[in-house]
Amino acid sequence: MTSQATSSGASVPITIRKLVKTYGPYRALDAIDLDIAGGEFLTLLGPSGSGKSTLLMAIAGFLRPDSGLIQFGAADVTRLEPHRRNIGVVFQNYALFPHMSVAGNVAYPLKLRGIGRPEIDKRVAWALALVKLDGFGERSIDQLSGGQRQRVALARAIVFEPSVLLMDEPLSALDKKLREHMQIEIRRLHETLRVTTIYVTHDQREALTMSDRIAVINHGRFAQIGEPKALYERPASKFVAEFIGDATLLALDEGAKQPTFRGRPVKTKDKVNGALSHVVLRPEKLRLVDKKNTAAWNRFAGTVDDIVYQGESVLLSIRLEGGETLFLRQGTDQQSLQNLPARYAAVEVGLHADDTLLVPEEHP
Ligand SMILES: Nc1ncnc2c1ncn2[C@@H]1O[C@H](COP(=O)(O)OP(=O)(O)O)[C@@H](O)[C@H]1O
Ligand SMILES: [Mg+2]
Repeated sequence: MTSQATSSGASVPITIRKLVKTYGPYRALDAIDLDIAGGEFLTLLGPSGSGKSTLLMAIAGFLRPDSGLIQFGAADVTRLEPHRRNIGVVFQNYALFPHMSVAGNVAYPLKLRGIGRPEIDKRVAWALALVKLDGFGERSIDQLSGGQRQRVALARAIVFEPSVLLMDEPLSALDKKLREHMQIEIRRLHETLRVTTIYVTHDQREALTMSDRIAVINHGRFAQIGEPKALYERPASKFVAEFIGDATLLALDEGAKQPTFRGRPVKTKDKVNGALSHVVLRPEKLRLVDKKNTAAWNRFAGTVDDIVYQGESVLLSIRLEGGETLFLRQGTDQQSLQNLPARYAAVEVGLHADDTLLVPEEHP
């Protein structure tokens, strides 16, 4: 068996310090610092080209950083070969051996480690059961659906009980229903194995569904790191507020002592400071209000531009007097449907002070 940085099965914490990777003048990783707890499920979330795969490949050892440090537990693995890091990796495109059976694919990493036949058979059966492919061992890869292939890739990544599991957009090739199903399965698998997991996606909803914590990355830097609810409810910047969930951001008046929008005070529970430049309006936090509503609400006058019935909710787009468009989401219970305003009606949209978030342009 090859010597490994970490012992098999133990979930290790990961420490990353000042990690830099450049391509010519471009800093794909711009001095990344990150601490991941042993057994944590952390998601790297960011737009295309933000540096997610670069960071994951550096952690896997397939890519050599210019400078900085990567530690698994107490071991410095920054320059260690990938096969000595005891990591399982799953890619979007499966990367299975098409000429081998399902069992042959899953057994492959065990063979590389020089494990004997009886133990291999036992472990392959264990891994296939974990991904719900019991009895599929003798099938060939081309007899499998996309979802089943990704389960095989997952089984192959966990069969040797890695210390770290890395996944780069593993569900992007699957259709929506299957993707949502697999998200829950991967979460359940993580609960069973408790292996330190880093999961890459550009899909904010997938990140919210699956993660203990999310690290939002943009231009090779973290915009914010936190639990899903914290990121959604307390975005640290305009970028995070717009990237996670739906939101319209309205620019506050410049130079005012207290936050105002077009001269009207904006009520908030937030601690106000001069850097806060935008108010965040999320569709599900907005209400249609009538004239006698209480003082705790911020109000925005506008016109109903469109009403879209989407099954589980109705989405109203409302144009403000200044031309900005807000989106307001309502339920489809009978009472809500009966009280919908007419298209082109003048309405007032309310946002409760408790739900009124102010964010700066940039992360402080
Ligand atoms: N081999 C390479 N040569 C030059 N530029 C690269 C290379 N790989 C990645 N990049 C650039 O680095 C940035 C980050 O890429 P990547 O980590 O693949 O982004 P993501 O996975 O978030 O979509 C992008 O701007 C990309 O164009
Ligand atoms: Mg990528």
